[in-house]
Amino acid sequence: MTDKLIIFDTTLRDGEQSPGASMTRDEKLRIARQLERLKVDVIEAGFAASSNGDFEAVQGIANAIKDSTICSLSRANDRDISRAAEALKGANRARIHTFIATSPLHMEKKLRMSPEQVLEQAKQSVRFARNLVGDIEFSAEDGYRSEMDFLCRVVEAVIAEGATTINIPDTVGYAVPELYGNFIKTLRERVPNSDKAIWSVHCHNDLGMAVANSLAGVKIGGARQIECTINGLGERAGNCSLEEVVMAIKTRRDYFDLDLNIDTKQIVAASRMVSQTTGFVVQPNKAVVGANAFAHASGIHQDGVLKARDTYEIMRAEDVGWSANKIVLGKLSGRNAFKQRLEDLGVQMESEADINTAFAKFKELADRKSEIFDEDILALVSEESVSS
Ligand code: KIV
Ligand code: ZN
Repeated sequence: MTDKLIIFDTTLRDGEQSPGASMTRDEKLRIARQLERLKVDVIEAGFAASSNGDFEAVQGIANAIKDSTICSLSRANDRDISRAAEALKGANRARIHTFIATSPLHMEKKLRMSPEQVLEQAKQSVRFARNLVGDIEFSAEDGYRSEMDFLCRVVEAVIAEGATTINIPDTVGYAVPELYGNFIKTLRERVPNSDKAIWSVHCHNDLGMAVANSLAGVKIGGARQIECTINGLGERAGNCSLEEVVMAIKTRRDYFDLDLNIDTKQIVAASRMVSQTTGFVVQPNKAVVGANAFAHASGIHQDGVLKARDTYEIMRAEDVGWSANKIVLGKLSGRNAFKQRLEDLGVQMESEADINTAFAKFKELADRKSEIFDEDILALVSEESVSS
């Protein structure tokens, strides 16, 4: 039987932690509506206790969005959890996401708490949250750098208190895929009540491996929730990118064998909206949503794609919301692509010899100009007809 993979989008919480990416309540609401169209399972709308503005944003999203579960982050204390519950009151489905750090480094240097104190606080906060909302996610912050024995104790205890999702973040992007996958697998094997909760991965991109680590957490570790953001937005180098991880699972369904709710045709619109709202430009060669992700520039590739798209395309541009793939005409383009563009532009050439002459002129121009636009081609062929 194929398992369902939950997509938990945290663009509006962890994504907003990108320096300079702060969003207003209305901007967050607009993005939340697009995330609902994208059919993400869970929208982490913000951190209600962090400011009145964020409280209102979470509240507004909880009241407006009906199809996705709405979640608020909260530290592991009663005040934060109560604020989260209050903001989520209007939600059809609400989740409280509470967290505390479990790595020796964070416990000693940041929290200044002993492991036993952290364990007690984790239990107490899940117990408190569980009385307010049925759907509780617990995150062991810096989980990947935590000691296995201690982490197993914490996870077992919070599941016993009623946590329904267990998230093991690679908070600082230190993991490598195989090790992270095995870390999740070992945890699931060692925690006696592990099957009472859904396991989740949350990977940062400091070494550029957030997507690969998340996929390993699913494939090797058996996690069934991925936390991710549109365009990979997030603290420092960002989070696992939603568009990449979703398309990897869809395109390699033969390998992952997982079902997703996501309407992939909404991906490009979501990417554009997040980019325009935050002012974070998407690099042209970004997988899936970059302007060049479905553009073909070399003559050999263009010829192949014109004959059969599968030659150089592993997914369809249209399936992620682009109107079409792109054949970019430039100095590397071949005659076949040029001829096809003439046809697309409705230009009728008298003979193959005329096409050859126009193609030679096109090549001359392309040596001087990095990209040739349709206007250039139309100008070139009209010169051709004037001069002949
Ligand atoms: O990266 C992290 O550890 C987090 C937690 C709060 C889930 O964002
Ligand atoms: Zn994070």
